[in-house]
Amino acid sequence: MAVDIVFLGGPGAGKGTQAQILQKHFGYRQISTGDLLRAHKRDGTELGKAAADYMSRGALVPDDLIIKMVEGELSDDAALFDGFPRTVAQAQALDEMLTKRGRGLPGVVYFEAPRAVLEERLLGRWTNPRTGRVYHEKFNPPQVPGICDEDGGPLEQRPDDKAEIIKKRLDVFEAETMPLVDFYKVDEERFVAIDATQDMDDVTHELLHVIGVAHAH
Ligand code: AP5
Repeated sequence: MAVDIVFLGGPGAGKGTQAQILQKHFGYRQISTGDLLRAHKRDGTELGKAAADYMSRGALVPDDLIIKMVEGELSDDAALFDGFPRTVAQAQALDEMLTKRGRGLPGVVYFEAPRAVLEERLLGRWTNPRTGRVYHEKFNPPQVPGICDEDGGPLEQRPDDKAEIIKKRLDVFEAETMPLVDFYKVDEERFVAIDATQDMDDVTHELLHVIGVAHAH
């Protein structure tokens, strides 16, 4: 049976990019808390309204809101958690949720990259707001600038991908999410770090190797 996997890493480390590749080619079910929150915002739900201010400031949305949202997304299929958990309280809640469903603890892949790399990636990112498909103007450009290769619609820059908010998100990551590395590292069996500064294909390759699906394809 496939195991649940957590993608841990700073903003811009490439978690969403790799989760989309694994979902498309290998059938993993991606649960991206960032994408879910943006959908709630677009749909004007109570959660979307409550989260909007935190997101626009680059702060974390409170744990209780996030944990409830994720719980509602769980199914019987193993998931690939992208951008969740981001605090120790969220990590403990995820372990509990999975254990309650008779599943094992999730495997954790840490996308390691220095701050300067993360900044450059976020400043050049373009996104399809309808599908979440991600491009980069230098590292992964669309065929026609500003247009999505898949649905031909316009690409946008995320409102939180502005220099001053990027700085805040990186500070928040270092202060609130980095402690999770130590939380997970204690259990060597479930934690692995990968070099997220490599080219996209090389990251995918390393990822498939560490999560053990490479041999099946
Ligand atoms: P979220 O949407 O999760 O943003 P994030 O963690 O800041 O992560 P990103 O989506 O920015 O980065 P990524 O690692 O997915 O990088 P990507 O693949 O796009 O969260 C947004 C907000 O929601 C948060 O600030 C918070 O307010 C709230 N939130 C979400 N989850 C929460 C939670 N659990 N708790 C509390 N609050 C929460 O890649 C980035 C760019 O680099 C792209 O342009 C891509 O094309 C390029 N790229 C990717 N890989 C490579 C590579 N190997 N080489 C070169 N370029 C690359």
